[in-house]
Amino acid sequence: MDKKVSKLLNAQINKELYSAYLYLEFSNYYNEAGLSGFSNWYYIQAQEERDHAMLFMKYLQNNNEKVTLEAIDKPDVSLGDNMAPLKAGLEHEIYVTSLINDIYDAAYSVKDFRTMQFLDWFVKEQGEEETNANDLITKMTLFGSDPKGLYMLDSELGARVYSAPSLVL
Ligand code: FEO
Repeated sequence: MDKKVSKLLNAQINKELYSAYLYLEFSNYYNEAGLSGFSNWYYIQAQEERDHAMLFMKYLQNNNEKVTLEAIDKPDVSLGDNMAPLKAGLEHEIYVTSLINDIYDAAYSVKDFRTMQFLDWFVKEQGEEETNANDLITKMTLFGSDPKGLYMLDSELGARVYSAPSLVL
């Protein structure tokens, strides 16, 4: 595998684990705020991010590439109100999309079609995650300032259940 592609894939393990850590921070914020549904939603989101990290690691291992695990940064975000995690979440997903696109670009430039095919799942996943993050902001804007609306929204998010990623390596 091309050195740059391998390095970017390895770095993405850390980025995904950081995403998991960031979403655990959000989950904890909402838990403290008494919004157990929002807390549940981000707890599951954190599990999905951990899964993403493991997929990148597995892909490198399957291709006999060396994996190096680095330290995970402390979540770098200040959460002032119930909307803040949602906005920070969207901003973060847009950033992650740019990282996936960068790896895709590196793979494309060396005709690494296998890595491009592996990344296709993540390209689609990022589209879904940005849509979900946008939807949460829209719903919070519409219903979040009304206590009953917030209660209903929290109940809706509390119903989210974890499911393993559809990509299996
Ligand atoms: Fe692993 Fe939310 O992207």
